[in-house]
Amino acid sequence: MKSIKSLGAWPVPALASWALCWCLFKAALALLGSPWTALTLATVAGGLLAWPCRVRWRRLMVAGGFPLSALLLFAGQLPPWIWLMPAGLLLLVYPQRSWRDAPLFPTPEGAFAALPAHLPLPARARILDAGSGLGDGLRALQRAYPTADLVGIEWSAPLAWLARLRCPSCRILRGDMWGHSWQDYDLVYVFQRPESMPAVLAKAWAELKPDAWLLSLDFEIPQLTPWHTQKLEGRHSWYLYRRQDLGLQQNCQKPP
Ligand SMILES: C[S@@+](CC[C@H](N)C(=O)[O-])C[C@H]1O[C@@H](n2cnc3c(N)ncnc32)[C@H](O)[C@@H]1O
Repeated sequence: MKSIKSLGAWPVPALASWALCWCLFKAALALLGSPWTALTLATVAGGLLAWPCRVRWRRLMVAGGFPLSALLLFAGQLPPWIWLMPAGLLLLVYPQRSWRDAPLFPTPEGAFAALPAHLPLPARARILDAGSGLGDGLRALQRAYPTADLVGIEWSAPLAWLARLRCPSCRILRGDMWGHSWQDYDLVYVFQRPESMPAVLAKAWAELKPDAWLLSLDFEIPQLTPWHTQKLEGRHSWYLYRRQDLGLQQNCQKPP
């Protein structure tokens, strides 16, 4: 991406990479004669060009620009069911239930660098990422607690499968975080939605051990002062709660 980046400010690198993909597509089509092979080659090239982009949405734009424009251009020649594929893929990655809590947003890499200073955990501490997505939260927790026993639970089967590849030393379960007991964990981590926090509180209060902890990225438990708040670079903050303080909150809600 360095050479593409050096072409100028955003969105010039994206436009340049799409133009390159189209040139490659044309050349491959002329040489090989197969539109599907040419399409695959140019799409792979777009993915490779996108790889070094540091900002996730830019990476998506660089990688997705060529296949999307090709799809739009050739749409008239494609069977109508092809349009159902993105919707089907989306439903597979995000079954409807996981939207009710939170769609996929990954935890930033070094988010918990300061956590051990505020919460020193024993070597084999048990940590759960409830709604573990692609495993970014688990990876950030593993950096903070390298000897901990890390478990993730994720509703979306493809995300759980990918997280197992990305976090080989963690145990990743496919299931509903509301149905999985939190009683065995020393620390439970959630990165969900503001609307989920009353239910998180109720579950934590009902199930966590008296000396366990709850950690939330970006969303506070309403009307409860955290044990510690850490502001991160950018828009993120995390909030750390002791289980024993959670009972101070009266307005608990049953988990769905
Ligand atoms: C904001 S993402 C956080 C992902 C990960 N914890 C991280 O920090 O990188 C929320 C994740 O929770 C998952 N999720 C939402 N509701 C769930 C449920 N009821 N049970 C299990 N996972 C759920 C979503 O599929 C999504 O992957």
